[in-house]
Amino acid sequence: DNNIVIAIDGPAGAGKSTVAKQVSRILNINYIDTGAMYRAITFKCIKNGLDLEDEKSVVDLCKNTDLKFENNSIFIDGQCVDDDIRTLQVSSKVSYVARIPGVRFYLVELQREMGKGDNVVLDGRDVGTQIFPNTKYKYYLNAAVETRAKRRYDELILKGVKASFEAIVEDVRNRDKIDSTRVVSPLIKASDAIEIDSTNMTIEEVVDFIVNDVRGK
Ligand code: C5P
Repeated sequence: DNNIVIAIDGPAGAGKSTVAKQVSRILNINYIDTGAMYRAITFKCIKNGLDLEDEKSVVDLCKNTDLKFENNSIFIDGQCVDDDIRTLQVSSKVSYVARIPGVRFYLVELQREMGKGDNVVLDGRDVGTQIFPNTKYKYYLNAAVETRAKRRYDELILKGVKASFEAIVEDVRNRDKIDSTRVVSPLIKASDAIEIDSTNMTIEEVVDFIVNDVRGK
């Protein structure tokens, strides 16, 4: 089909969501933050006191959840959880939830449904390898781990959230490790994705590169 589906994958804190949001604005297309969906499920599990090792309960919870985006805000069972899902508590647990095959199956279906028949940019870990493997617009955004942690740290401080840089470096390293070693759709660069190392690039430079590449294809 003729839809534009842009996949932006990469490790934690590479700037994917900032870049994806700007790309969506410039190209006037929808944005789907797939990581926010894993975070929202994790938030609900914690809130309901679920044992995250109990895979069946977590998958059952998914099936009884209403998850949607409205104006780039995420709603779970009707409640906006934009801020609740960005805490270090959720960050430190989300990769354990995201490695459960039944959770991935459920969310990948939902993500395909959300993107179907539309021009859309998605960011995550498995957009180019699993969710939309046939799209020709695939980017793998990377940066040195300290740079990525520093960006997350600055983001939180800017929002007025107290944060420890060391704790964030540890969170980023830990999630990368779990995300790239899990059995079902691990974080990996799709062979046909263009890798962008943003360590020494500004957000604008990365956005320009992607927009120009999409327009040129
Ligand atoms: O993108 P973000 O850092 O918010 O994602 C949070 C977590 O959700 C990741 O560390 C990963 O465990 C999981 N995730 C995933 N697949 C995606 C997006 C996110 O497993 N497509």
